[in-house]
Amino acid sequence: MTTPRKLHIKSYGCQMNVYDAQRMVDTLAPEGFVETDSADEADLVILNTCHIREKASEKVYSELGRLRVMKDDAARSGRQMNIAVAGCVAQAEGEEIIRRAPVVDVVVGPQSYHHLPQLLARAKSAGRALETEFPLDDKFGFLPAPTRQAIRARGISAFVTVQEGCDKFCTFCVVPYTRGAEVSRPVARIIDDVKRLVDNGVREISVIGQNVNAYHGEGPDGRPWPLGRLMHRIAEIPGVERLRYSTSHPRDVDDSLIEAHRDLPALMPFVHLPVQSGSDRILAAMNRKHTADDYRAVIDRFRDARQDIAFSSDFIVGFPGETEEDFSATLALVTQIGYAAAYSFKYSPRPGTPAADMQETVSPEVMDERLERLQILIDSQQSAFNLAAIGTTVDVLFERPARNEGQIVGRTAYLQPAHVMASPDIIGKVLPVRIESLERYSLLGRLASPAAIAQRAPMTSGA
Ligand code: 5AD
Ligand code: SF4
Repeated sequence: MTTPRKLHIKSYGCQMNVYDAQRMVDTLAPEGFVETDSADEADLVILNTCHIREKASEKVYSELGRLRVMKDDAARSGRQMNIAVAGCVAQAEGEEIIRRAPVVDVVVGPQSYHHLPQLLARAKSAGRALETEFPLDDKFGFLPAPTRQAIRARGISAFVTVQEGCDKFCTFCVVPYTRGAEVSRPVARIIDDVKRLVDNGVREISVIGQNVNAYHGEGPDGRPWPLGRLMHRIAEIPGVERLRYSTSHPRDVDDSLIEAHRDLPALMPFVHLPVQSGSDRILAAMNRKHTADDYRAVIDRFRDARQDIAFSSDFIVGFPGETEEDFSATLALVTQIGYAAAYSFKYSPRPGTPAADMQETVSPEVMDERLERLQILIDSQQSAFNLAAIGTTVDVLFERPARNEGQIVGRTAYLQPAHVMASPDIIGKVLPVRIESLERYSLLGRLASPAAIAQRAPMTSGA
């Protein structure tokens, strides 16, 4: 029996990284690693990096500077600390990290997490280890399943990766280079994962992938299944109360997905559908493979299938060559669609992407000013959306005790946090809540009625 070693993972960026961090914990658990919240007492610290945001690699090097001090302190007290860099910066700049940061023992790209134990062993014998290849084996087939305790500790809502990588090559984006070509997992493996999660108390499954609706995994019939069909299959599993998916590309919205929204009550009516810009000229320069009108048409198809559907999106302002007219087209699109939430970013070049070589850059002042105008518009839409919930009764899936004594917090269909005074017994249940007020982005309310609660008997949990 090995003595437990402490593992600390610091994750940046998207939900895929959050999920990957969990899978790294699962991979290292059989090696005797247990998770800790504090880096300075850890035997192994993993920086799970993200390459999307500006100055991503700079941030990694400054974090490594802080870790070097901790590693030295540990060594002085006779304890060995190992440092690993994982995620998309590791993938993009592996060799460079090894060269520039002697503090790093292991560099591991997102396709190689199942090799972490071997990489740590190699670092022990050889000093350092690097793996950023795209191995042909399916890493998911090799990653150990999470333990029951790990699933329970992670709560009511869980991510399941169904697809990874992207073949779209938007000109601003590093994902096709860091995560590689698009790969879909077979349906049967996904179903096994979902069953294990719901057997251990999970009630909400968020199916994730960089381009999730390009999903075409092999079904039990040996044919490729589209995402909508996968959603139908997952929704059949007893215990799955809620189902979500992200991130979708407008081009890959097919009839199966629209039908899933029409037919499956468990599929939440909230879709993250990035558009990036409302200008056709800029969309073409971004190689998005759709126009603003194509996007509007996709939104209409969703709305026809399910009236209560709401959308969120991503926007980039100041893409090279963006004029005031292009930007106005973005504002016009936002005004027309009406979002429940959205993320907006200033364009920043990623080395190695086609847009990084484009000459007509937009000045930082203009970018700041456009970002502010866009964010004011998005905020006003989000506030209006949240305010509209007041006085209505909405279903909330309760997740955990809130910070305020006696309150339990959950989420509405639209991922709005909702707080009620109640006993912790309601955790894991979907219950109707009468919304009474809004505090910043959180809804406050009360459980609708004891009768309504009695009707919605608790789901049996795996406990
Ligand atoms: N500059 C600014 N924003 C970017 N995003 C991706 N790459 C860049 C970049 N180079 C944004 C896109 C994407 C989101 C995850 O991050 O809006 O949808
Ligand atoms: Fe990147 Fe998304 Fe475009 Fe793929 S579809 S290249 S992940 S922005």
